[in-house]
Amino acid sequence: MSLISTINKQFALDVQKGLSAQPKTLPSKYFYDKQGDALFQQIMQLEEYYPTRCEYEIFDTYKMHLLDLFQKNSDKPFKLIEFGAGDGHKTKVLLDYFTKKDQNFQYVPIDISRNVLNVITNKFSRSYPSLDIQAFHGDYFEALKSLETDQNYRKVVLFMGSNIGNFSNTEAVHFLQQIHQRLSKGDLVVIGVDLKKYPQRILDAYNDKKGVTRDFNHNLLKRINRELGGNFRIDNFLHYPTYNPQTGDAQSYLVAKEPHEVHIKALNQRFTFDAWESIYTEISKKYSVKEVEVLARESGFQLIQHFFDRNKYFVDTVWQKN
Ligand code: AVJ
Repeated sequence: MSLISTINKQFALDVQKGLSAQPKTLPSKYFYDKQGDALFQQIMQLEEYYPTRCEYEIFDTYKMHLLDLFQKNSDKPFKLIEFGAGDGHKTKVLLDYFTKKDQNFQYVPIDISRNVLNVITNKFSRSYPSLDIQAFHGDYFEALKSLETDQNYRKVVLFMGSNIGNFSNTEAVHFLQQIHQRLSKGDLVVIGVDLKKYPQRILDAYNDKKGVTRDFNHNLLKRINRELGGNFRIDNFLHYPTYNPQTGDAQSYLVAKEPHEVHIKALNQRFTFDAWESIYTEISKKYSVKEVEVLARESGFQLIQHFFDRNKYFVDTVWQKN
């Protein structure tokens, strides 16, 4: 196999940049290859990983209210645009309900993983033969382009699963401002946000007993080995999650246990690791309800309604462009 012809150039460049930086870092979007998608599926089933269950509960409890908001003060059908569609398990709750109510709407799933996108497009076109599905492949910033002006629909942007937590606060505001800019008056966004809570519960969610989250973090190095001809020894790196209750930053690292070198063929380059040198791999930021409201304001939206699970671990917040 010729490595060169099959490598993802952007991945190679991002890895080179991240591992040359001081301190080292790798972008979390590269978690999601085929193996990573499968591991994330397992994470969502874990006892410790509460966000998925919370959001499922919210959708199931409030699907009627949500449909109501999507139709309120609008004479157009709506277009559900889902950023980071994932496996569609939670979205299915809404689609089941909306199609049963015989609603006229279009579904636009967007995901960085072609694999994930194919799976849900097949699944949903089988379950809902009359549903208009327009899948879009790309990362969040490419996905913004899919919000091109289309005045035939009211747009409803779904950004679920606490994916917003993968941005720092400034990045989140910037990203939401860009969404705001591309929407029309009356359009809506629904954002799933993981809330600040008992800190150990948050840490446990990123440090499960079965070690699935550790494998998920390690998969980033395995992916470099697979796709870029790296020679990372996975056992050399500890999975180390942290949580700062003040900033709400839940951050994950890979920490080198001993000094060593790694060679990456596709980059024709060596990277040295000192003992206990770390690679920062992910932020999963947690917000307070007040901070969610500040986020809405700073990105130009009007807060319409918060929907919580019974424990108030998670919120799906609905905002509107005025
Ligand atoms: C898919 C980004 C929301 O941050 O909680 C789960 C990814 N990482 N366990 C999260 C993740 C480790 C997840 N998001």
